[in-house]
Amino acid sequence: MAPVELRLNGLCKRFRDVVAVHDASLVIRGGEVLALLGENGAGKSTLMRLAYGMVRPDAGHIEIDARRVRFDAPRDAVAAGIGMVFQQFSLIDTLSVRENLALAWPRAPWWLGRDARRPGALDAHLARLVPGVDPRARTGDLAVGVRQQIEIAKVLLREARCVILDEPTAVLTPAEAGALHARVRALARDGFAVVLITHKTADVRACADRVAVMRAGRVVGEAPAADAADARIVEWMVGVAPAPAAARPARAADTPVRLSVRGLCAGPVRDVALDVHAGEIVAVAGVSGSGQVALAEALTGLRPLDAGQVTLDGQALRAPGRPARPVAALAAIPADPRRTAIAPSRSLAVNLALKRLAVQPWRVRRAALEEQARAPIARFDVRPPDPRRPAGTLSGGNLQKLVIARELQGDPTAVVACYPTMGLDVVATAQVRDAMLTLAANGCAVLWFGEDLDDLLAHAHRIVVMFDGRLVADLDAHTATPQQVGVWMSGHAIAPDPLRQAA
Ligand SMILES: Nc1ncnc2c1ncn2[C@@H]1O[C@H](COP(=O)(O)OP(=O)(O)OP(=O)(O)O)[C@@H](O)[C@H]1O
Ligand SMILES: [Mg+2]
Repeated sequence: MAPVELRLNGLCKRFRDVVAVHDASLVIRGGEVLALLGENGAGKSTLMRLAYGMVRPDAGHIEIDARRVRFDAPRDAVAAGIGMVFQQFSLIDTLSVRENLALAWPRAPWWLGRDARRPGALDAHLARLVPGVDPRARTGDLAVGVRQQIEIAKVLLREARCVILDEPTAVLTPAEAGALHARVRALARDGFAVVLITHKTADVRACADRVAVMRAGRVVGEAPAADAADARIVEWMVGVAPAPAAARPARAADTPVRLSVRGLCAGPVRDVALDVHAGEIVAVAGVSGSGQVALAEALTGLRPLDAGQVTLDGQALRAPGRPARPVAALAAIPADPRRTAIAPSRSLAVNLALKRLAVQPWRVRRAALEEQARAPIARFDVRPPDPRRPAGTLSGGNLQKLVIARELQGDPTAVVACYPTMGLDVVATAQVRDAMLTLAANGCAVLWFGEDLDDLLAHAHRIVVMFDGRLVADLDAHTATPQQVGVWMSGHAIAPDPLRQAA
């Protein structure tokens, strides 16, 4: 395979009044992993969508191996050897791995039916591209990391020479991210060009050859990864040196219980009991698929309870058969806000008011809503800060900020936050973390589902661990070590439920 050279020359893209990409130039070379960084809304996804033919440039042009090309649609980019994997996977969950690959298989015409698409040949590819995966497995049952590998396999099946990955590590556990880093390195060794959009400098350290940083639609910095220290990358991104992390608030002893969970069963969640006190930050850890997301869904009203009950300040919050209405006192930050927490075609203003509208439907006046939207938009720096824009047009990170801005309005007495900093840039991550610490300092009960153990241990007071749908450990976060938590996460330290013993 001849190594590809993809040149983006002076690309511009504007969406009505918003300039997403402005005179951006970038060279992407075979044999190299290029990490593309930049703050939320900087234009990373849009620039790569231009390279993939999903969006047409207003100005500038693209060259492949010194020949000018024009992409009217992704199919043109695919034909030219470019593939892209999005954060929202495109696999069909109810089909098998083999069937999903067959849908991407370029040679057999679709009307031959999927059985005719040479399962043997597909399986051979699969064994090479995603070793150890059963071709007959139902895709929806596989872990996120494996599904992502299948997405990459799909791109490679179409004979891509340049693979673009949009924030692939945001959804992965540290172990899965390690596997992805190895995969990406191997691809570069085999001559592929890889672009990895990310907010994590750890990704840069683990697998990048080169770093490019975008800011306000332009590529503002580029360097070999070895020459780009973390602080320099952050400075390129936001123009200032990074602020030090805030400390966790000291917790007063004997504060009352605010959020109380008893005997909760919901889907994979089995018999969970948990109390979160006023002013307390409780972190929930677990390897992916241990039931954390289902627990967060049950608490935030996205998943019905099979048994048990949840109370907030002594009032019933969730119970089996009880309709899950939004509750002003509970800030609910779900894992996949684009899917579960916004109305994409409605304005930022309406989305910010959704909870209030659900509670008080008579209070709808557009001008007033737009006026009320300004403060939360400014507080979390949602960009562009126009209350009238449809929420669905926001970049990934800005959409996350919008949901957080809505949920933390008013004075919630409890927060259930599922991966709240996923997809956020360094500045926004610090902002959201500080907001949660401040809430706790003011007496809010905070339940924080997170994937970064170091982060959880640094900011929470207690850390509970889920394994196989149950809470298996309840540790003091001031003294617990990542190794200790890791052992509980892996299920190798099953002991009597410490919470039940205490109760
Ligand atoms: N289809 C669209 N319609 C209107 N505006 C859009 C559209 N797509 C992107 N934008 C705007 O273009 C800008 C750049 O968005 P983009 O998604 O490229 O950012 P990003 O760097 O990928 O950010 P993030 O890190 O949050 O994913 C944002 O201001 C966004 O609101
Ligand atoms: Mg993006």
